[in-house]
Amino acid sequence: AELEKGPYAHYMMKEMDEQPGAIRRLLAEYVDEDGRVSIPEDVRAAAREADRIYIVACGTSYHAGLVGKQLLESVAGIKAEAHVASEFLYNPPLLSERPLFVFISQSGETADSRGVLVRIRELGHKTLTITNVPGSTLSREADYTLHTFAGPEIAVASTKAYTTQIGVLAVFACDCARARGVEVAFDVARELSLAANAMEVVINEKEKMESLVWEYLSSSRNCFFIGRAMDYYICLEGALKLKEVSYIQAEGFAGGELKHGTIALIEEGTPVVAVSTQRAVKHSIRSNAQEVIARGANVCMISIEGLEEAGDALVLPKVHEALAPLIAAVPLQFFAYYAALYRGCDVDKPRNLAKSVTVE
Ligand code: G6P
Repeated sequence: AELEKGPYAHYMMKEMDEQPGAIRRLLAEYVDEDGRVSIPEDVRAAAREADRIYIVACGTSYHAGLVGKQLLESVAGIKAEAHVASEFLYNPPLLSERPLFVFISQSGETADSRGVLVRIRELGHKTLTITNVPGSTLSREADYTLHTFAGPEIAVASTKAYTTQIGVLAVFACDCARARGVEVAFDVARELSLAANAMEVVINEKEKMESLVWEYLSSSRNCFFIGRAMDYYICLEGALKLKEVSYIQAEGFAGGELKHGTIALIEEGTPVVAVSTQRAVKHSIRSNAQEVIARGANVCMISIEGLEEAGDALVLPKVHEALAPLIAAVPLQFFAYYAALYRGCDVDKPRNLAKSVTVE
């Protein structure tokens, strides 16, 4: 039944809708009898011994990796870096003494990621794969696997695999913190369950998101996404999603960086989606939005309850700030979907793209 579209016109829509359920499922899988999230003891031990975590992935999974890096550093106090797999071997970082490699891959079959895994194993380092397909190549060849439990993802553009990757990374970061005696200031099991509810609220606002696409994206050739801190990573993914399925040229920028060059492209009516879910940057992202408004941009401001201002296009229900990527990702996915529909694109099978790329 999971492979049927049912009443849906597209797998992408079905899979976006499945996200709250997928987060609840992964939570149920990772919660122990005491209601705390926990990962298998051998993975925990590997994370405890590591002095640095190297995340390696491609495409959307790399964008989840950026969020994961941030969570590992801010929640667990572990040094972490995220790398694009296809560059890793050519631009190799200097490795720490006791690295742990984390491969993130929906399919578990991506050749670029596997190339790094093979090399890292030759070097004798520990490897963990976070994947939606436990029997996959990357899962079999790594020392450890964490399953994302998203269920089969058929649409080429990744949606529920991405949000569940973030969910598992949050669980992983919190468990690593506990294993290292670092106190986590929030109950991740509870917050993930609240985030799932909040995602559902957003998903039920489809008409609103569809009308925003009409208002901001219907006649544009290009679009910019701006955000700061964690929101920056969400913008990279929002832009990728839009490009993949609607072919609108889109770029995600750190809020403060647009003015250092790309602002030259802003003209009357250029759509800019601005994301504000992080308290520390609530003023600075607003001033970045003002900078582009002053040059004629049509700014679609997406904020979260507590940081909203009058006139925001969409206000997301409140979730814990560390998990805000889970909810901020959702409207950007819907933007991509509706933009693709308006433009008559093949939503589930965009031109030139493959679900799983097994060549380097
Ligand atoms: C392909 C897909 C992308 C995906 C990337 C990584 O390019 O089209 O949607 O993000 O591969 O895939 P993976 O299965 O390793 O997560």
